[in-house]
Amino acid sequence: MTDTRVALVTGANRGLGLAIARGLAHRGLHVVLTGRNQGAAEAAADDLARDGLSVSAHQLDITDAASVVHAIAGTGKTFGRLDVLVNNAGIAIDRGQLASSPDFEKVRATLEANILGAWRCSAAAIAEMRRNNFGRIVNVTSHLGSLSTMADTNVAYRVSKAGLNALTRVLAAELSGTGVLVNACSPGRMNTRMAYGETDRTPEDGADTPIWLATLPDDGPTGGMFADRKPLSW
Ligand SMILES: NC(=O)c1ccc[n+]([C@@H]2O[C@H](COP(=O)([O-])OP(=O)(O)OC[C@H]3O[C@@H](n4cnc5c(N)ncnc54)[C@H](OP(=O)(O)O)[C@@H]3O)[C@@H](O)[C@H]2O)c1
Repeated sequence: MTDTRVALVTGANRGLGLAIARGLAHRGLHVVLTGRNQGAAEAAADDLARDGLSVSAHQLDITDAASVVHAIAGTGKTFGRLDVLVNNAGIAIDRGQLASSPDFEKVRATLEANILGAWRCSAAAIAEMRRNNFGRIVNVTSHLGSLSTMADTNVAYRVSKAGLNALTRVLAAELSGTGVLVNACSPGRMNTRMAYGETDRTPEDGADTPIWLATLPDDGPTGGMFADRKPLSW
């Protein structure tokens, strides 16, 4: 087993996932950059490796159960450990959609990726983490999933992130006392392909809180939702 902590980031080929991967590698972790397109994941990893960072690449489509198991169990086998999972990959394909007139194809695709994708990655990762009684799972959520500020439009995305928040709490409760901490963070609006409108915030700005949660000490929080390193009362 390698002595270096190993992190796996989903959707790490671009946007926030790439910024999180870079930040974790700069903090001395070995980072497995995953992407649903193998070539895109490799290109991103090659870029970081050129900067002297310890990284590798793996194909991982979060909607494909076999791909998830292959990437996550494979990482555990290759390195003898998986310390950190960042469930970053997500889609936002229903802007403006109202709950009263749903396009259930878009709803189904959104829930499949944003809830079930993170859920199946977590289940596979927990099996690896429990072997070493250590793990940090970070679910990337959104302010649009907050129940306390819930509004109309983008219904599939909102419901998916609210569901991800619930999953965070359920997993944290189940894993209490095992050494595996599960938290969610909202990165805030960032200038990525997904961005809702204009913003000056970069993926690097958004990566600060997920990186902090991915590197929490043993007495760190679990089951919480955070933005700017502060707990949210959702
Ligand atoms: N941007 C914002 O303002 C904002 C605000 C709040 C929360 N967030 C959240 O932040 C996270 C990252 O978003 P982003 O802004 O970086 O968006 P992005 O630039 O659109 O990147 C999304 C990433 O997810 C990947 N992905 C999508 N479906 C996938 C699948 N089935 N399997 C594996 N990877 C998949 C994409 O891969 P491909 O390159 O193959 O498409 C891409 O790498 C998301 O969870 C999002 O909901 C973003």
